[in-house]
Amino acid sequence: METYLKLLENNRKWAKEKQTHQPEFFNELAKSQTPEFMWIGCSDSRVPANQIIGLLPGEIFVHRNVANIVSHGDLNCLSSLQYAVDVLHVRHVIVCGHYGCGGICAVDQNLRVGIVDNWLRYIHDIKREYAEELSKLDDEARVNRLCELNVLTQVRNVCESTILRDAWANGKEVAVHGWIYSLDDGILRELSEVQHKPQSVVALKI
Ligand code: CO
Repeated sequence: METYLKLLENNRKWAKEKQTHQPEFFNELAKSQTPEFMWIGCSDSRVPANQIIGLLPGEIFVHRNVANIVSHGDLNCLSSLQYAVDVLHVRHVIVCGHYGCGGICAVDQNLRVGIVDNWLRYIHDIKREYAEELSKLDDEARVNRLCELNVLTQVRNVCESTILRDAWANGKEVAVHGWIYSLDDGILRELSEVQHKPQSVVALKI
Protein backbone atom coordinates (compact mmCIF):
# COMPACT_ATOMS: atom_id res chain seq x y z
CA MET A 1 0.00 0.00 0.00
CA GLU A 2 1.16 3.54 -0.77
CA THR A 3 2.25 5.15 2.48
CA TYR A 4 -0.10 8.11 2.03
CA LEU A 5 -3.11 5.78 1.78
CA LYS A 6 -2.20 4.48 5.20
CA LEU A 7 -2.71 8.00 6.53
CA LEU A 8 -6.26 8.16 5.22
CA GLU A 9 -6.95 4.75 6.67
CA ASN A 10 -5.55 5.85 10.05
CA ASN A 11 -7.82 8.87 9.93
CA ARG A 12 -10.95 6.78 9.33
CA LYS A 13 -10.05 4.56 12.28
CA TRP A 14 -9.33 7.53 14.52
CA ALA A 15 -12.58 9.34 13.62
CA LYS A 16 -14.60 6.19 14.14
CA GLU A 17 -13.01 5.49 17.50
CA LYS A 18 -13.62 9.08 18.66
CA GLN A 19 -17.22 8.91 17.52
CA THR A 20 -17.74 5.64 19.36
CA HIS A 21 -16.36 6.85 22.68
CA GLN A 22 -17.53 10.47 22.50
CA PRO A 23 -20.49 10.75 20.14
CA GLU A 24 -20.66 14.56 20.59
CA PHE A 25 -16.94 15.15 20.08
CA PHE A 26 -17.04 16.37 16.47
CA ASN A 27 -20.41 18.11 16.82
CA GLU A 28 -19.06 20.19 19.68
CA LEU A 29 -15.76 21.03 17.96
CA ALA A 30 -17.47 21.94 14.71
CA LYS A 31 -19.36 24.73 16.50
CA SER A 32 -16.31 26.61 17.77
CA GLN A 33 -12.84 26.42 19.24
CA THR A 34 -12.01 27.68 22.73
CA PRO A 35 -8.41 26.66 23.32
CA GLU A 36 -6.76 27.85 26.53
CA PHE A 37 -3.28 27.60 25.04
CA MET A 38 -1.27 28.79 22.08
CA TRP A 39 1.87 26.94 21.00
CA ILE A 40 4.67 28.50 18.99
CA GLY A 41 7.06 25.70 18.12
CA CYS A 42 9.48 24.31 15.57
CA SER A 43 8.24 22.53 12.45
CA ASP A 44 10.41 19.53 13.35
CA SER A 45 8.39 16.31 12.95
CA ARG A 46 9.72 15.04 16.28
CA VAL A 47 8.05 17.81 18.29
CA PRO A 48 4.30 17.52 17.62
CA ALA A 49 2.53 19.94 19.98
CA ASN A 50 -0.68 18.11 20.90
CA GLN A 51 0.93 14.72 21.28
CA ILE A 52 3.77 15.59 23.66
CA ILE A 53 1.52 17.49 26.07
CA GLY A 54 -1.48 15.20 25.83
CA LEU A 55 -3.98 17.65 24.37
CA LEU A 56 -6.91 16.87 22.12
CA PRO A 57 -8.11 18.72 19.01
CA GLY A 58 -9.56 22.05 20.08
CA GLU A 59 -7.30 22.46 23.11
CA ILE A 60 -4.27 24.26 21.69
CA PHE A 61 -3.85 26.78 18.88
CA VAL A 62 -0.62 26.02 17.05
CA HIS A 63 1.85 28.02 15.00
CA ARG A 64 5.02 26.28 13.87
CA ASN A 65 7.96 27.36 11.74
CA VAL A 66 11.60 26.41 11.33
CA ALA A 67 13.37 27.06 14.67
CA ASN A 68 10.28 28.53 16.40
CA ILE A 69 11.11 32.12 15.50
CA VAL A 70 8.87 35.04 16.44
CA SER A 71 10.00 37.81 14.14
CA HIS A 72 8.51 41.28 14.56
CA GLY A 73 7.93 41.43 10.81
CA ASP A 74 6.47 37.97 10.27
CA LEU A 75 2.83 38.56 9.38
CA ASN A 76 2.11 34.85 9.55
CA CYS A 77 3.24 34.41 13.16
CA LEU A 78 1.88 37.77 14.32
CA SER A 79 -1.52 37.06 12.74
CA SER A 80 -1.70 33.73 14.54
CA LEU A 81 -0.64 35.33 17.82
CA GLN A 82 -3.13 38.17 17.50
CA TYR A 83 -5.97 35.83 16.66
CA ALA A 84 -5.11 33.59 19.58
CA VAL A 85 -4.85 36.43 22.10
CA ASP A 86 -7.55 38.83 20.92
CA VAL A 87 -10.15 36.53 19.41
CA LEU A 88 -9.69 33.14 21.05
CA HIS A 89 -8.61 34.70 24.39
CA VAL A 90 -5.99 32.07 25.13
CA ARG A 91 -4.61 32.30 28.67
CA HIS A 92 -1.15 30.97 27.89
CA VAL A 93 1.25 31.46 24.99
CA ILE A 94 3.96 28.81 25.02
CA VAL A 95 7.12 29.30 22.99
CA CYS A 96 8.70 25.88 22.73
CA GLY A 97 12.11 25.13 21.26
CA HIS A 98 13.97 21.87 21.25
CA TYR A 99 17.52 20.65 21.64
CA GLY A 100 19.09 19.27 18.49
CA CYS A 101 17.17 21.74 16.31
CA GLY A 102 18.43 21.37 12.73
CA GLY A 103 18.01 25.07 11.99
CA ILE A 104 20.05 26.04 15.02
CA CYS A 105 22.75 23.44 14.28
CA ALA A 106 23.02 24.92 10.78
CA VAL A 107 23.59 28.36 12.27
CA ASP A 108 26.08 27.03 14.81
CA GLN A 109 28.10 25.42 12.04
CA ASN A 110 27.57 28.18 9.48
CA LEU A 111 26.09 25.69 7.02
CA ARG A 112 24.41 26.74 3.79
CA VAL A 113 21.10 24.89 3.42
CA GLY A 114 19.00 26.97 1.03
CA ILE A 115 16.30 29.63 1.24
CA VAL A 116 15.98 28.89 4.95
CA ASP A 117 19.43 30.43 5.49
CA ASN A 118 17.73 33.82 5.18
CA TRP A 119 15.11 32.92 7.77
CA LEU A 120 17.84 31.66 10.07
CA ARG A 121 19.59 35.04 10.03
CA TYR A 122 17.51 35.77 13.13
CA ILE A 123 19.40 33.00 14.91
CA HIS A 124 22.70 34.36 13.61
CA ASP A 125 21.81 37.64 15.35
CA ILE A 126 21.35 35.75 18.63
CA LYS A 127 24.63 33.90 18.09
CA ARG A 128 26.37 37.25 17.61
CA GLU A 129 24.66 38.81 20.64
CA TYR A 130 25.82 36.00 22.95
CA ALA A 131 29.12 35.24 21.18
CA GLU A 132 31.20 35.65 24.31
CA GLU A 133 29.13 33.23 26.41
CA LEU A 134 28.89 30.72 23.56
CA SER A 135 32.63 30.82 22.83
CA LYS A 136 33.36 29.31 26.27
CA LEU A 137 31.33 26.15 25.59
CA ASP A 138 32.24 22.91 23.85
CA ASP A 139 30.44 21.91 20.63
CA GLU A 140 27.47 20.11 22.20
CA ALA A 141 26.93 22.58 25.03
CA ARG A 142 27.23 25.51 22.62
CA VAL A 143 24.49 24.35 20.27
CA ASN A 144 22.25 23.42 23.22
CA ARG A 145 22.74 26.86 24.72
CA LEU A 146 21.95 28.50 21.40
CA CYS A 147 18.68 26.52 21.34
CA GLU A 148 17.88 27.90 24.81
CA LEU A 149 18.89 31.46 23.98
CA ASN A 150 16.67 31.28 20.93
CA VAL A 151 13.63 30.31 23.04
CA LEU A 152 14.33 33.13 25.50
CA THR A 153 14.74 35.63 22.69
CA GLN A 154 11.47 34.55 21.09
CA VAL A 155 9.68 34.81 24.44
CA ARG A 156 10.96 38.36 24.66
CA ASN A 157 9.77 39.04 21.11
CA VAL A 158 6.27 37.77 21.99
CA CYS A 159 6.20 39.94 25.12
CA GLU A 160 7.43 43.01 23.27
CA SER A 161 4.95 42.63 20.42
CA THR A 162 2.14 45.17 20.24
CA ILE A 163 -0.24 42.25 20.68
CA LEU A 164 0.92 41.32 24.18
CA ARG A 165 1.64 44.90 25.18
CA ASP A 166 -1.90 45.94 24.24
CA ALA A 167 -3.43 42.86 25.85
CA TRP A 168 -1.62 43.52 29.13
CA ALA A 169 -2.37 47.25 28.97
CA ASN A 170 -6.05 46.33 28.67
CA GLY A 171 -5.85 44.12 31.74
CA LYS A 172 -6.05 40.86 29.89
CA GLU A 173 -4.72 37.86 31.78
CA VAL A 174 -2.39 36.08 29.42
CA ALA A 175 0.92 34.50 30.37
CA VAL A 176 3.91 33.81 28.15
CA HIS A 177 6.10 30.76 28.72
CA GLY A 178 9.46 29.61 27.37
CA TRP A 179 9.93 25.85 27.22
CA ILE A 180 12.45 23.52 25.67
CA TYR A 181 11.92 19.91 24.63
CA SER A 182 14.55 17.23 24.78
CA LEU A 183 14.49 14.73 21.93
CA ASP A 184 16.54 12.34 24.09
CA ASP A 185 13.96 11.77 26.81
CA GLY A 186 10.76 13.44 25.57
CA ILE A 187 10.73 15.84 28.51
CA LEU A 188 9.75 19.52 28.40
CA ARG A 189 11.53 21.93 30.68
CA GLU A 190 10.61 25.50 31.66
CA LEU A 191 13.33 27.93 30.63
CA SER A 192 11.97 31.31 31.57
CA GLU A 193 9.98 32.84 34.37
CA VAL A 194 6.32 32.98 33.40
CA GLN A 195 5.76 36.42 31.89
CA HIS A 196 2.59 38.22 33.02
CA LYS A 197 3.39 41.81 32.10
CA PRO A 198 5.91 43.71 29.97
CA GLN A 199 7.93 44.87 32.97
CA SER A 200 8.77 41.31 33.95
CA VAL A 201 10.47 40.47 30.67
CA VAL A 202 13.81 41.29 32.27
CA ALA A 203 13.29 38.27 34.54
CA LEU A 204 14.13 35.91 31.69
CA LYS A 205 16.87 33.55 32.80
CA ILE A 206 19.30 34.61 30.07
CO1 CO B 1 13.86 22.55 15.21
